[in-house]
Amino acid sequence: PTPVILDCDPGHDDAMAILLAVAHPAIELRAVTTVAGNQTVEKTALNARRMLSLAGVTGVPVAAGCDRPLTAPLEIGDYVHGESGLDGPAFGEPDVPLDPRHGVDLIHDTLAAADEPVTVVAIGPLTNIATLLRRHPGDRERIREIVIMGGSTERGNHTPYAEFNIYADPEAAAEVLGSGVPTTWVGLNVSHQALVTADVLARIEALGTPLARVCVELLTFFGSTYHETWGFPAPPLHDPITVAYLIDPSVMTYERVGLRIELDGPHTRGATIADLHHRMDWEPNANVGIKLDRERFWDLMIGAIEQLGRP
Ligand code: BDR
Ligand code: CA
Repeated sequence: PTPVILDCDPGHDDAMAILLAVAHPAIELRAVTTVAGNQTVEKTALNARRMLSLAGVTGVPVAAGCDRPLTAPLEIGDYVHGESGLDGPAFGEPDVPLDPRHGVDLIHDTLAAADEPVTVVAIGPLTNIATLLRRHPGDRERIREIVIMGGSTERGNHTPYAEFNIYADPEAAAEVLGSGVPTTWVGLNVSHQALVTADVLARIEALGTPLARVCVELLTFFGSTYHETWGFPAPPLHDPITVAYLIDPSVMTYERVGLRIELDGPHTRGATIADLHHRMDWEPNANVGIKLDRERFWDLMIGAIEQLGRP
């Protein structure tokens, strides 16, 4: 199995990514760290513990990392994910404890303890990862690849041209992109191919387990805010595509292209510029996702909910 550290900000789609990462035997989840993004870092850490508890996984350490971006002011995604960051279902007290370490220290310790390079999956703002690489430049050699949900080859969501995770901390995203560690990017252009349509929701509901019911409640809330904010007919399940791609690379096609992060544009700060048509004089520096195999993706995601829900 691929050893993985999951850095996240749950978040409805992050929650589903956690389920996929713990369910599939191709992934060995070594640590979960959280960052301020969809909600404050305290809330995202609580939500990660809630999801692991629901999945019945108690052996994976969970720690809270950075509580604000490197330099930008904190902006949270409560207009999509609600007051708790995971609005919809009612949660009990999680039985997964909070690791006392800072999230960045947990990532560093996990890399140091591994006998092979570890893959980092980053599905929130990139503050924790950028901070790790600033503090421990030697950790670059210990990371096999960073698979990121962020950016877009098309338009944005938080602003017309910027996707939320990159907009939230563009300086961190630029540092991670420039770090020399290989990166693969799942942008909105891919994740908007993963809409939780009525037939998908019906498949989850039909599993009939308590976990499946929680997932339906989560996805129903997520669908309502996506509809209110952007008029989407169904919500896009961004984050788990990163995990699905690690399990089965044929889930997504990608192109190796020149990629830049816009830091200065007064209206485009946080935009990702992918030179898909090789118009710029840029060395290819990133793998940028293009096309999703929707069926494969949903089979993996729904299969994970099914498997974890079994008594
Ligand atoms: C990204 O922002 C968050 O709202 C989601 O969890 C996802 O990581 C999509 O733009
Ligand atoms: Ca997220």
